[in-house]
Amino acid sequence: MRVVERRLDKNGVIRVTGPAMLVVNSGRISVLGAVYGPGSRLVLHKCRSYAVKALEESELKVTLGEEGSVEEPKPGEEVIEEWLSVAEKVASKGGRVILVGGVESGKTSLAALIANVGLSLGRRVAVVDGDVGQADVGPPAFVSMGFVERPLVWLRDLTAESMKFIGTVAPGPVAGSIVASVKELVEEAERKGADLVVVDTDGWVSGMGAAGYKLALIKSLQPASVVLVGGNLGLLAGILARTSIETYVVGSPARRRERSRDERRKLRAEGYRRYLEGGETVRINAAEAPVLGSCVFSGTPVSEGEVEAISSILGVRVLRTSRLPGMLVVAAESRPDREALARLREAYPEDSVYVVTPMEAKGLLVAMIDRSLRELGPGLILSVDYESGTILVRTRYSEGAEGIIVGRVKLDDNYVEVGRITGCVI
Ligand SMILES: Nc1ncnc2c1ncn2[C@@H]1O[C@H](COP(=O)(O)OP(=O)(O)OP(=O)(O)O)[C@@H](O)[C@H]1O
Ligand SMILES: [Mg+2]
Repeated sequence: MRVVERRLDKNGVIRVTGPAMLVVNSGRISVLGAVYGPGSRLVLHKCRSYAVKALEESELKVTLGEEGSVEEPKPGEEVIEEWLSVAEKVASKGGRVILVGGVESGKTSLAALIANVGLSLGRRVAVVDGDVGQADVGPPAFVSMGFVERPLVWLRDLTAESMKFIGTVAPGPVAGSIVASVKELVEEAERKGADLVVVDTDGWVSGMGAAGYKLALIKSLQPASVVLVGGNLGLLAGILARTSIETYVVGSPARRRERSRDERRKLRAEGYRRYLEGGETVRINAAEAPVLGSCVFSGTPVSEGEVEAISSILGVRVLRTSRLPGMLVVAAESRPDREALARLREAYPEDSVYVVTPMEAKGLLVAMIDRSLRELGPGLILSVDYESGTILVRTRYSEGAEGIIVGRVKLDDNYVEVGRITGCVI
């Protein structure tokens, strides 16, 4: 722990990297448009850095954790003035604002800034978090919406009011589903009174596929403003310049706290934990309840004779089978060896053959859904009894839960991802 005291002139800026605790001894400072006066305290997460701007002559006390730091930005390093000016414009205009930029360009920080400026102008502000990977409002693998009731310095300070399940943390293969879900959340926020809806997005921007996805989102939302953050956005900027959509281009802070792959995974684990810890066990009967995204509980079983044949090929007990067009799915008591699986595939040359086991289902992320298939929130599979069709799920969203949507993310006991699933999960 180190304690640093700093005196800032009016409009002076310092860069503080967490973990840090900031106390304002005198004066007034702004952090992403959130204003702090004498006596206020502010805790900065270890994976983030901030420009702290003095609105008047101010004295600060900063307590720094191991990797924390306080620096004077060199000329040209800081973008906060440019960001503030764009935030003022888009927040005054109101309506829908979409932020687009590469990984770590500053989208989420600028989203918080625009939300804070909107609040200070008296707007009813909502944030829609469309980033399924580095999700900050809801848990990862979901897109979510939350209302901003007080100034904030990180979108993680918000609680999701509504969530839509995307089921994976990589946007590429699910871009269409993200566009549709983000649109629903924006409309919901507006129905509930928001007159400024800030839409944060993921950092997948380079290449045709990514540009097409971001343009599809813009096209679908018809925003009042688009803000392009940082470099590598030539393709998008070029197309938007030929439209009537109001587009702003801002830079990224030249010096900022970046996150390693491992830190990003840990940040996701924190995000899952926030919404999954605690809760109760819910019993889902797959024969009666809506279970979406399950291969085993979607098809029709094969005949008893065929089950016996499959069982003898695999050398393991078969608990349940499911035939779907072009697919044979077998739930087996334990994982058969490679040769046995190869023999089963030979016996069904026309089909894709999948074998799943009860062991593999533990820790799968799901969304709890109500009778109209609307997501209530996340849950984790504890066990699947393939013979009786009973799925046990632990969730904080049990009220009104009638079924589940099965995702493609599996978590260990510490909410850390242990792999992404392709093919059939349960
Ligand atoms: N003005 C600033 N000065 C220094 N660092 C900043 C500033 N604004 C944001 N940062 C830091 O830059 C990093 C990236 O910002 P942020 O998380 O907002 O970007 P992002 O584009 O949303 O990233 P991701 O792709 O991970 O979602 C963070 O550590 C953030 O705290
Ligand atoms: Mg972000």
